Amino acid sequence: MKKWFAVIGNPISHSLSPFMHETWLQENNIDASYIPIQVEEGKLEDAVKGLKLLGCSGWNVTVPYKEAIIPFLDEIDDSAKGVGAVNTVVKTEDNRFVGYNTDGLGFIQSLGEIQSENRVLIIGAGGAARGIVHALKQSGFHHLYVANRTYLNAEKLTLDAQAGQALTLQEAEAKLGHFDIIIQTTPQGMKNQAESLPIRLNNIKEHAIVADIVYNPLVTPFLEEARKYNVRTINGLGMLIHQGAIAFSYWNGINPSSDKMMERLTMQLG
Ligand code: ATR
Repeated sequence: MKKWFAVIGNPISHSLSPFMHETWLQENNIDASYIPIQVEEGKLEDAVKGLKLLGCSGWNVTVPYKEAIIPFLDEIDDSAKGVGAVNTVVKTEDNRFVGYNTDGLGFIQSLGEIQSENRVLIIGAGGAARGIVHALKQSGFHHLYVANRTYLNAEKLTLDAQAGQALTLQEAEAKLGHFDIIIQTTPQGMKNQAESLPIRLNNIKEHAIVADIVYNPLVTPFLEEARKYNVRTINGLGMLIHQGAIAFSYWNGINPSSDKMMERLTMQLG
């Protein structure tokens, strides 16, 4: 039977994953397909049964099912355990379904060569921030700070992750010169969101790096602001591509080209 992969979520029609994975499958001469599947509320268990019955070789999981899917899998890898969320499911040779989380590592890879001595400020304390903090900790980063609108959520994240120090947004702003890498993980800056910034950047350090996990628009208001200070900026496309590339390598044993994909998707979104 021809191999096939999928991404499940709701909504799913705007996902870039089908384009990305179909392109990589073709580039690597793999005779398989990758399809988006919208799973309606309350139907996740049925959907997972269906995927298994119909011979799906692996699938991605996106909003709102990254946490809810865990009970329906046979095993959870450490990358997903620590975060409590799965974005990639792999079918093993003995027909077991294993959940991974490639988002955090994908994000770190999108930063390029980065020393773990850097002081990193993460803005936001939601699921995305949790994944990034966990992956940074796993990669040996010791100087982690989480600033959030609701301080208690930042505190909870750092306690759960056993990593990092919680800050208010005001504290982060006041101490900004202290940080080498600043990562914006809130949904602010997405299309149709209010365009105010989570923190002001006027105290930013020279040679800091500013990253935003949002990729639509490619240049968020936060990155636009950062550009005024001539610092390096990184948009969320790299994270999307690298988390996908890691999933692809788990499924197919091949690392696909992320550079070419970056050009393609930048053109599509630009
Ligand atoms: P995700 O799972 O994609 O990370 P989420 O779990 O909804 O998204 O998390 C949203 C994060 O963005 C939270 O940290 C939220 O702050 P609160 O804990 O105070 O709710 C933050 N956030 C959302 N909208 C924001 C805004 N307008 N300004 C600042 N922070 C915002």
